[in-house]
Amino acid sequence: MAAKPDFFERDVVSMRDFDRGQLELVFQQAATLERTPGRLDGALEGKLAVLLFFEPSTRTYSSFQVAAETLGLRVSGFSNPKGSSVSKGETLHDTIRMFEGYGADCFVIRHGMMGAARFAAEITDVPVINAGDGRREHPTQAMIDIYTIWKAFGKMDGLKVGIMGDLRYGRTPSSLSYGLSNYQVELCFIAPDALQIRPEVESFLNRRGVISSKETNLRSVAETLDVLYVTRIQKERIPDLTEYERVKKLYEVDLAALKDTKPSLKVLHPLPRMGELATEVDSAVFAQYFAQAAAGLPLRMALLNMILGGAE
Ligand code: CP
Repeated sequence: MAAKPDFFERDVVSMRDFDRGQLELVFQQAATLERTPGRLDGALEGKLAVLLFFEPSTRTYSSFQVAAETLGLRVSGFSNPKGSSVSKGETLHDTIRMFEGYGADCFVIRHGMMGAARFAAEITDVPVINAGDGRREHPTQAMIDIYTIWKAFGKMDGLKVGIMGDLRYGRTPSSLSYGLSNYQVELCFIAPDALQIRPEVESFLNRRGVISSKETNLRSVAETLDVLYVTRIQKERIPDLTEYERVKKLYEVDLAALKDTKPSLKVLHPLPRMGELATEVDSAVFAQYFAQAAAGLPLRMALLNMILGGAE
């Protein structure tokens, strides 16, 4: 079967690199896979996926691993750099060169340094998928997020999406915003001033003509939202938590905070969650975040298959 020309052997470094048609191609492939599980089992037999995770992960690492293995790929690399020669000081450059020599067909890289995936993509001809680079981006998470909204509403245009929490140090808010800029959506960034969306993301949205606003608390905007995307505070990246600790109650979502929202509201969260999303919301009709996490598997399978040229 022919490979998808838009995706064959391409890197996935930033959501800024994907247009609406390309995103919807991935969504359609993922949706087909959800309707007919098993249809791609073994499609990439004999190829090698190398997962290099320099930062902790549950969802991204394990869903790429399961996706790759279901497609028939062999998986190598590491989920914890402490158990690799990175702990002895080996560089990302040399690590990439090593796995090229072992026949890597794709790299999936999570790294604490902004630009690490772009750097990797520049030094290897093997496709690189960014699984999170510092606070900058997490493009496959954004694909999952938009796929989840796309499935829940059957459309994207006309929706108002609130993105709340740590928008400055989190990488999912920026990738999600870039991805949503392909649609006629309205964005509302809900955060304390110190954690508001970064200027480069705002500039990008302005250049794309996206309607966006900023709020300092959920209460003032909750009833207007179709989607509320909650994020955790990136304690590992924030230099000073004092201001956040003072105002954090304004950014905690429980059933009381959702009482005046639209009945059709969908609450998403990339997970893991800390105190910002109460477990009592899990059984409410709003909760979409475990379905969102589950969607990571078919979406990442579809993406790997499109990049590595498996059968349709
Ligand atoms: N959403 C997400 O990236 O989760 P992990 O850090 O567990 O991979």
